[in-house]
Amino acid sequence: MGTGFILKGQVLAFAASPFAGDRPEDATLLREAVAVKDGKIAGAGTLSEMQALLPEAELVDHAGKLILAGFVDAHVHYPQTAIIASWGKRLIDWLYSYTFPEEMRFGDRGYADEIAHRYLDLTAAHGTTTVCSYCTIHPESADAFFAAAQARGQRVAAGKTCMDRNAPDGLCDTPQSAYDDSEALIARWHGVDRLEYTITPRFSPTSTPEQLEAMGALWAKHPECLMQTHLSEQTDEIEWVKSLFPQARDYLDTYEEFGLLGAKGLYGHAIHLEERERHRLREFGAALIHCPTSNTFIGSGLFDMAGLMAEGQRIGLATDTGGGSSFSMLRTMAAAYEIGQLRGTPLHAAQLLWLATQGSATALRMEGKIGNIAPGMEADLVVLDLASTPAIAQRAGRAEDIWEAVFPTIMMGDDRAIAEVWIGGQPVKRS
Ligand code: GUN
Ligand code: ZN
Repeated sequence: MGTGFILKGQVLAFAASPFAGDRPEDATLLREAVAVKDGKIAGAGTLSEMQALLPEAELVDHAGKLILAGFVDAHVHYPQTAIIASWGKRLIDWLYSYTFPEEMRFGDRGYADEIAHRYLDLTAAHGTTTVCSYCTIHPESADAFFAAAQARGQRVAAGKTCMDRNAPDGLCDTPQSAYDDSEALIARWHGVDRLEYTITPRFSPTSTPEQLEAMGALWAKHPECLMQTHLSEQTDEIEWVKSLFPQARDYLDTYEEFGLLGAKGLYGHAIHLEERERHRLREFGAALIHCPTSNTFIGSGLFDMAGLMAEGQRIGLATDTGGGSSFSMLRTMAAAYEIGQLRGTPLHAAQLLWLATQGSATALRMEGKIGNIAPGMEADLVVLDLASTPAIAQRAGRAEDIWEAVFPTIMMGDDRAIAEVWIGGQPVKRS
């Protein structure tokens, strides 16, 4: 299977979580080179160590550039690609005005194929190598996404979205059809190549108790799958949930009651949490997914990163395309930094980069496979040009260490900063 590659530059890996100790940078490892063979990381160290490990390997010199694990985006809606940056609405109106009409189109497999490929082209150009995506209620939309990712050799998680009320007729399934269609998709795609099926009840307002119960039963039967949904994103959404589920103790309880709270559960947004919800999420080791550009764009609120990390929650980072206003995990890290500032708790560059790689991979329970650079891990890599524009270059030129050098790219970088992307040990041509 070839002689492999050695990428030379500044190779950033994580030895631990930079949220754990007093000095975030102490959790990181900086090396000179990374060796890649047969789709996996063979090792990382000095150039001579890597050349001893893979004597025949081709050398790719990225002098001065930063090489790290490809970005992992833990919550996206690929079908919202074409309606990203739609003006002027808050969550519920935004869903009905822009999102649902667009999602209606995904019963057409040709359109779903077109958008799946467009989405994966755009995200690869921004350095994202793994995503966890919502599809639409149409099984074809999941088939299209998995087929597109499979053709590119990408590790992705995704699922057919389930809704049986408070959505247009053309976007509703039933408790039984949601169960049957999701189970057929699990059989077709889960564990095939690098693909994972994710059970996907959209959120409590668009599912009847009967559908949530059916989804809970499906998850109990397929505990190998992730489960994703939305939780406590906007205050009027929370009021709506309370009116639809008057007996529930809180928003999370509408999931918990039906077996939809678990360690492999992903809860998008999780902004306005009550004490009991925080306690139960931590107890189960469930993952909270922070979507900062979405939270500012739709006007949802300020996620409590510092408080939630301090109490030991599992947290991933995501764009939430197209409620989020960008495909870029650099822009997403910048927004997470800004929300931290608004709460008086700025995040360190090492923490931001960890969230966009190992943090999101840990949320997706993929931390042993992706999101870091270590022997045996899958070779999904991104190479960052830390001087991609004149504005960034002049600031990075003043930097006294790697963190000061990379921070201008986090705050001001876009797809021009993505010098190269590797997926499964192969360089991806940027579109
Ligand atoms: N809540 C339920 N559906 C959605 C969605 O598509 N985007 C966002 N941001 N929140 C949601
Ligand atoms: Zn979402």
